[in-house]
Amino acid sequence: MTPKSDNSPWMATVLTLFPDMFPGPLGLSLAGQALKDGVWSLETLDVRDFATDKHRTVDSTPFGGGAGMVMRPDVVDAAIGAALAGVQARCGSADVPLVYLTPRGRRLDQARVKALSDGPGVIILCGRYEGVDERVLEARDVEEISLGDFVLSGGEPAALALIDACVRLLPGVMGSDQSLAEESFESGLLEYPHYTRPQDWQGRTVPDVLVSGHHERVRDWRRQQAEKITQARRPDLWARLAGEKE
Ligand SMILES: C[S@@+](CC[C@H](N)C(=O)[O-])C[C@H]1O[C@@H](n2cnc3c(N)ncnc32)[C@H](O)[C@@H]1O
Repeated sequence: MTPKSDNSPWMATVLTLFPDMFPGPLGLSLAGQALKDGVWSLETLDVRDFATDKHRTVDSTPFGGGAGMVMRPDVVDAAIGAALAGVQARCGSADVPLVYLTPRGRRLDQARVKALSDGPGVIILCGRYEGVDERVLEARDVEEISLGDFVLSGGEPAALALIDACVRLLPGVMGSDQSLAEESFESGLLEYPHYTRPQDWQGRTVPDVLVSGHHERVRDWRRQQAEKITQARRPDLWARLAGEKE
């Protein structure tokens, strides 16, 4: 994959039946400001524009029977072709990850987000109905990514989440690199608990160590808390960390 060049912003190209869902929340807050500032860019392609019949049909019934409809390979393929041609025209290369968001994909994690964010951008195919015809996924060698073990009604909310996670890692988007460095998953651990004012809220006080002024003790306490939380809530992460240490 070509690394991000300095003069072309990181770009998300979204193939969707609902382009009006974008930028949605990505037009607000940090991601929205960065979009306005040209730190990243967003393009949506309406998959329906690639239908070839007068009814602009994008789906059909599944071979073998069963409930629901399936997105047609010819229509999706034409949309992917147009997205790749657009990337090629803008960047001089179409070497960009092509992702289909689906519950059966590899579970998204921060390492994949980081890798995507370090690249030139991403093309994201949002499914609807029962999903997309398998043949186009094979033919285009699409990477399948899941947001988690649950089923959304479409890929668009997952695309918004994926883009948000990538954009906030782009240089200059977050105020402080320090806050990124201490976040969940950065060290393989979940994050320690946070506290702010008031120091006493409804009789619940802030742990003494956090108001002690001892930076080293605060650091140790946070590390212990992060380990305790990770061990209790995510034994899978804890086991991986233990394996890495061995
Ligand atoms: C109703 S879902 C289809 C679910 C599919 N029939 C299945 O059982 O795996 C429609 C679309 O939502 C998106 N989607 C649903 N859940 C998702 C998840 N957990 N992660 C990523 N995308 C998801 C996918 O693009 C999918 O094609």
